[in-house]
Amino acid sequence: MRKNIVAGNWKMNKTLNEGIELAKELNDILSKNKPNCDVVIGTPFIHLAEVTKIVDKNIIGVSAQNCADKASGAYTGEVSAAMVKSTGADYVILGHSERRAYYGETDEILKNKVDLALENDLTPIFCIGEVLEERESEKHFDVVKSQIENGLFHLSSDEFSKIVLAYEPVWAIGTGKTASPEQAQEMHAFIRKTLAEKYGEEVADNTSILYGGSCKPSNAKELFANPDVDGGLIGGASLNAKDFHGIIVAFD
Ligand code: PGA
Repeated sequence: MRKNIVAGNWKMNKTLNEGIELAKELNDILSKNKPNCDVVIGTPFIHLAEVTKIVDKNIIGVSAQNCADKASGAYTGEVSAAMVKSTGADYVILGHSERRAYYGETDEILKNKVDLALENDLTPIFCIGEVLEERESEKHFDVVKSQIENGLFHLSSDEFSKIVLAYEPVWAIGTGKTASPEQAQEMHAFIRKTLAEKYGEEVADNTSILYGGSCKPSNAKELFANPDVDGGLIGGASLNAKDFHGIIVAFD
């Protein structure tokens, strides 16, 4: 059966020391109160090697927020999937809407990143989601479907079974505006149907599909209660151990 996952995305927040403090605090809380779901924290690159040493791997997985679309070489400022893996991290967030919008990440680039992540034994948390205008013009299903097809459908079903998906409606990210539980369930069910058509029911049933966008302790439970919502990708509320834990306990 698919896993329930609560993953934090710290984005470009926290100095190294602040990040270490947050990871320690979260590790302490979760060591005393074992979570009923998988927990992942997505830190900036420079935190990875330290944070993987601090957290208990059996309780908290560590994720990068990006990796390069090339394996190695003369790409100044880039960080490869192999480098991410060498820090002890096991996940990488790919295709976040901020990467797509501000750093020009196309489906073609993301395809390469996904391949390199899998080759290096990292679990991609692959983000998809429509902007407000696309939802208002009722193109949201088409947009999400094409992001999945173009970024992931070149994978074999064995490869695909290693992917975690995160549906993040762009209009809900950092805006305080959350998708309603009905809107989330409707899209997650559509995504699972899209996966079933390509890879079959079993692969689709086993794929974790997270919701992201202004998820917080007060709304996590009703979002995660939906049959096709398998947890969340959490931005703002992952920057504080209490709030993040308040979301994790939605699975208690
Ligand atoms: P948010 O961000 O929880 O701050 O809305 C979610 C995300 O971008 O992953």
